[in-house]
Amino acid sequence: MINAKIAYSKNGPNDEYYTPVEAVEMILPFIPKYVKTIWECTAIKESQIVEVLRLNGYNVIPTHINEGFDYFNYEPEDYDLTITNPPYSCKDQFLQRAFNLGKPFMFLLPITTLEGFKRNKMFRDNGIQLIIPDRRFSFKSGGKGAWFQTSWFIHGLNLDKDLNFIPMKDTKKSPIQRLNTGTSVIDLKNEFRQAA
Ligand SMILES: C[S@@+](CC[C@H](N)C(=O)[O-])C[C@H]1O[C@@H](n2cnc3c(N)ncnc32)[C@H](O)[C@@H]1O
Repeated sequence: MINAKIAYSKNGPNDEYYTPVEAVEMILPFIPKYVKTIWECTAIKESQIVEVLRLNGYNVIPTHINEGFDYFNYEPEDYDLTITNPPYSCKDQFLQRAFNLGKPFMFLLPITTLEGFKRNKMFRDNGIQLIIPDRRFSFKSGGKGAWFQTSWFIHGLNLDKDLNFIPMKDTKKSPIQRLNTGTSVIDLKNEFRQAA
């Protein structure tokens, strides 16, 4: 955990890649029916993860380290699934923490997260499934397309297939598209307070 904090304080600004609407819409069909409450554990104030999920009927708990909710110290009492785009500088620690918590999760991460000696063991020991889009996402406030390919790393949902290759043109659009204008419909500040 200490290593994760050091990495964050060193690399924090490089971790600010904000998830675009289409990245959230593509996973909606994979969320099982029993899931009612979803934890977004790194939710920025205009989180499209939170907004898309809410518009699709989910109860979402948004938390962020800047509001006092460090992922390594805090866990909501009641939730069914974690969906987030973790800070890439401490992705190993986020993955390890998620496996330790024992709840299903969907993490948006660079596809190269599949590489690496330690992660190979982590995935062997715990199991991992992927949802892989056929293109790179344009991350919010990240300029044009990200130079890296991201995919959803999933654990605990028992998807039919381990590798799910998705043509983005087939992704069903939710009413959230209008939010691509940058309009925020929620006030996360109040919600962060309530979660405390
Ligand atoms: C890649 S950004 C994603 C933001 C947002 N979840 C999204 O998908 O648009 C990762 C965020 O995690 C935050 N963060 C870093 N360390 C954290 C921690 N220990 N607990 C909670 N959030 C953290 C960073 O400040 C950053 O805003």
